[in-house]
Amino acid sequence: MKSLLILNGPNLNLLGSRKPEVYGTTTLAEVEEMCRREAGELGLQIVFRQSNHEGQLIDWIQEAGPEVQAGRSIGAVFNPGAFTHTSVALHDAIEAARLPVIELHISNVHHREEFRHQSWISPVARGIIIGLGVHGYPIAIRALHQVSE
Ligand code: DQA
Repeated sequence: MKSLLILNGPNLNLLGSRKPEVYGTTTLAEVEEMCRREAGELGLQIVFRQSNHEGQLIDWIQEAGPEVQAGRSIGAVFNPGAFTHTSVALHDAIEAARLPVIELHISNVHHREEFRHQSWISPVARGIIIGLGVHGYPIAIRALHQVSE
């Protein structure tokens, strides 16, 4: 059975209580459950991870690339949180690892402050899902599965 990585960046551990008017009330544990269900329907296993630390996210991306190249994984769904708008290092890691990534944002970042309109991840993403709330996660899994066939 192939796997996929679901990677969440800083502050997403606070999902459910953080700015519910923007991010909703679903917790990260509930998102994990939604993802597990969706992946199960597609015959995929998920590895679900969250970190507030850029270097940790980079390490996981570097590990994930070879998994894809070995045919054991189809890639990653990645919500980089605020690192989206700041991290050249995450951009470089995705590119170097040749990791197929669906970039995901719960909120519509283009409706929000201007500093959220720039993404360092989009140029190296296979696709982008923005503004569909936590429903974007299962949609992103399905999309990654579809484009990796
Ligand atoms: C986010 C959007 C980012 O701008 C923000 O910093 C986050 C979450 C989203 O999912 O909408 O932490 O990635």
